[in-house]
Amino acid sequence: MQTVVVVGTQWGDEGKGKITDFLAQRSDIVVRYQGGNNAGHTIVLDGKKYALHSIPSGILNPNIQNILANGMVINPKALLIELDKLEGMDYKIAISDRAHVIMPYHLMLDEAKEASLTHKIGTTHKGIGPAYTDKAERTGLRMGEFVNEELFKSRLSEILVQKNQQLAIYGKKPLAFDDIFVEYKVYADRLRPFVTNTSILINETISKGKKVLFEGAQGTLLCLDHGTYPFVTSSSPTAASVPINTGVAPWLINGAIGVTKAYTTRVGEGPMPTELNDDIASYIREKGHEYGTTTGRARRVGWLDLVLIKHAKTSGGLSGLAVTLLDVLSNIDTLKVCVAYELDGKVIDYIPSLVNDFGRVNPVYVELKGFKEDITGVKSFKELPLAAQQYIKFIEDQTGIKVVIFSVGPDRNQTIIIDDIF
Ligand code: IMP
Repeated sequence: MQTVVVVGTQWGDEGKGKITDFLAQRSDIVVRYQGGNNAGHTIVLDGKKYALHSIPSGILNPNIQNILANGMVINPKALLIELDKLEGMDYKIAISDRAHVIMPYHLMLDEAKEASLTHKIGTTHKGIGPAYTDKAERTGLRMGEFVNEELFKSRLSEILVQKNQQLAIYGKKPLAFDDIFVEYKVYADRLRPFVTNTSILINETISKGKKVLFEGAQGTLLCLDHGTYPFVTSSSPTAASVPINTGVAPWLINGAIGVTKAYTTRVGEGPMPTELNDDIASYIREKGHEYGTTTGRARRVGWLDLVLIKHAKTSGGLSGLAVTLLDVLSNIDTLKVCVAYELDGKVIDYIPSLVNDFGRVNPVYVELKGFKEDITGVKSFKELPLAAQQYIKFIEDQTGIKVVIFSVGPDRNQTIIIDDIF
């Protein structure tokens, strides 16, 4: 396939960064298509750990064009801090002139709104929801305006009137135009050389027959439309959203690799049917380092839930699966896998649209034999212990999707291809 999307099939943190970094080695461009610095993509290369938030995970591969597409919301200050950490490295980035800018008032409103809610969403407090709200409300500031000093000045003074009114509702002090303009003008000057029409860039790359990797952030269950609303983010991480978020025709997207952990995690609020609160949860959390890359919050942990993956397949499309963190499951005697739910005495194999119903489902489990061996050095599917092979086969049989990649540790070299689809 020439163009492939890497998409999360759970509630984010599936290891998309690692899979993107791995596949980027054979790609010409990598395109982040939604979300912002709420994402935390960890890549380990030769023992060194990189935590990326807004920058595409292809960045560690020199000569690859990395694109922040129009569907993203970008915090200029945070992006520059991230870029500064790459000082001395050889990289290429381009930022869409249509991407929206996250400004200080978005961060303040995110925090204030959350504080005011009885049923909190548990956002990352990065200003994501408020920035996308402005986009939908048609009052947002786009990158193209931000890097044009005159436009930035006039738009900011207009926007601040409205934002200060909103901040006052939450009892917050008004923001001063000069403080923001003086600080952010410096960021705009630094980012200006990277801002361009990225849709043209991506389409040209595709028409030359080169390989394009689209990198999703968060996961399908955090999708604004197909996730566990309202406990979701404010964009769509699905493969189906790539065309609109990048300016590429739908028929130019060849396929999607759905990334899933060998178990399930979730951060933030909202139902999670297979959640565990026992010794197995603690074992998985510590062994899998299940603490947020962006917020440091301990992640909720549970058994693998295949209903989620089937949902990701139907709502956004998946042509193959990448199973990450398989090594974390070694030394557990029996592995449970959720294959359906029970709701009001009925067995269902889909996610109810009402979050209250979803909160009431009971998982229907199949028990599989666990494996004892340390598999972190495994280099092929055949080298896996039989029980681990059966675990992978079970996922394939139940979901009807081929597992094309699995990974047995954080390093790029601990990623194993079963079927070369990209
Ligand atoms: P927001 O995206 O900051 O508005 O947060 C909305 C919900 O999405 C919260 O439950 C967050 O914890 C969750 N979320 C956002 N980004 C990520 C991510 O990259 N990984 C996991 N959860 C995320």
